[in-house]
Amino acid sequence: MNAYTEPCAGPNERATGTGSPGFGPLRGTSRAEAATAERSEPEAATAERSEPEAATAERSEPEAATAERSEPDRLGAFTAGQLGRLCDLVGIDAQRRTAHQRVLTDLLGPAADRPLTDPPASPSFVSDDHTPVEFSLTFPADGPPLLRVLVEPGCAARALPDNARAAWAAVGRLAAQWGYRLDELARVNDLFLPPAPHGPLTLWSALELRPSGPPGLKVYLNAGSRGAERSMETVGEAMTRLGHGRAYESVRSYLRPRFPERATLMFFALDVGPWAEPRVKVYAAHHHATAADAADAARLVPGASPERVAELCRRIGGDEPFSRLPLISCYSFTDTAADRPTGHSLYVPVRAYVRDDRAARDHAVELLQHYGIHNAPLDRALAALTTRRLSTGVGLIPYLSLVQAGRQAPRITVYLSPEAYRVFPPREDAGPGSPADGRRAADRIS
Ligand code: TRP
Repeated sequence: MNAYTEPCAGPNERATGTGSPGFGPLRGTSRAEAATAERSEPEAATAERSEPEAATAERSEPEAATAERSEPDRLGAFTAGQLGRLCDLVGIDAQRRTAHQRVLTDLLGPAADRPLTDPPASPSFVSDDHTPVEFSLTFPADGPPLLRVLVEPGCAARALPDNARAAWAAVGRLAAQWGYRLDELARVNDLFLPPAPHGPLTLWSALELRPSGPPGLKVYLNAGSRGAERSMETVGEAMTRLGHGRAYESVRSYLRPRFPERATLMFFALDVGPWAEPRVKVYAAHHHATAADAADAARLVPGASPERVAELCRRIGGDEPFSRLPLISCYSFTDTAADRPTGHSLYVPVRAYVRDDRAARDHAVELLQHYGIHNAPLDRALAALTTRRLSTGVGLIPYLSLVQAGRQAPRITVYLSPEAYRVFPPREDAGPGSPADGRRAADRIS
């Protein structure tokens, strides 16, 4: 289940009743239990990670650094450790790695110091287990993978207005530090950060961590900030203000007859800082869509191949409707003179359609192979995140996505969950045709 498959909560509330599967009773294995269960088995990855991380040393108690697996016990140090290992694998040097880890812990704010034995500070919608962090590796056809990290900077706040204030301040600090202008964000922030924002999020930020130069910054806002029922109006107004009204019209006409039963708006996103081609992005969830429906959603974008989209969906879920968690499209806009979006990305919530992460990993590897992309970094990335066996849980790989933009070669992205709080058990009813929407019904709260 996903907060976008049902109406959102009212002002100042999280969509607790309708949120991601992690809102349910604690049926999953806690991270500590999973780690203990796995420790007896030899894992190639364990050997590589005994070196203490810079951020770990800074943030955690001395005994945590020497604990089994050298794993820190606080959210900031735990996720910074994962980030550090991911930096190593994409060739980011030690100095820059430390800087990136600092940015992550700073973005987490007071949440960084929370012990992982405490519940998450707020029910973050970033990850199913409410870890307010998600990593991703994007694999361009030519060249090494790029590492990104998504964070909810306001996650330590209990109420959404405070969450919004904290997140806004955090983005302001980063922009000031790196000399980025926030002009576009300033033109739409009244729409997305109203005094009484609706959930399940206010503002998230993502960093693209490059081997050289400061990170690229992306800001994600809630299309339903003024109520899910007003999301078409909110996003339409934002697109008009930013000069993309004409290009957005094709997306609006596609969504309107489907809204809200078959399509809902999720995020409005802006690239901030020195991007080669800064994008404005609109994310739409396709409810109960088939592979063919997803292909239709890509048809709006010149140059995006609907066949590739259908092929990706079919390899994971066949021809049945994707009814557990929705397929998602992201339309990107770069040129205010254009009359169509410039790019399309399709996200498949693979975690809802496989038994376990071994199957999700195999899908990712086959997809990368299909596109002729070197996939070795993927297994190293999974080992950088966890020592558990992939078959013992599901959700480590929440999404697989295909990006098609202009004449650029298609790009595959693999999303990676920190699993700081919980490992969800393997699903026994893995096919898309079975009734539950995300997890077994009993795992959800109503
Ligand atoms: N966890 C949320 C979801 O599954 C939000 C999210 C995180 C998301 N990463 C994403 C949505 C990537 C789309 C694509 O919907």
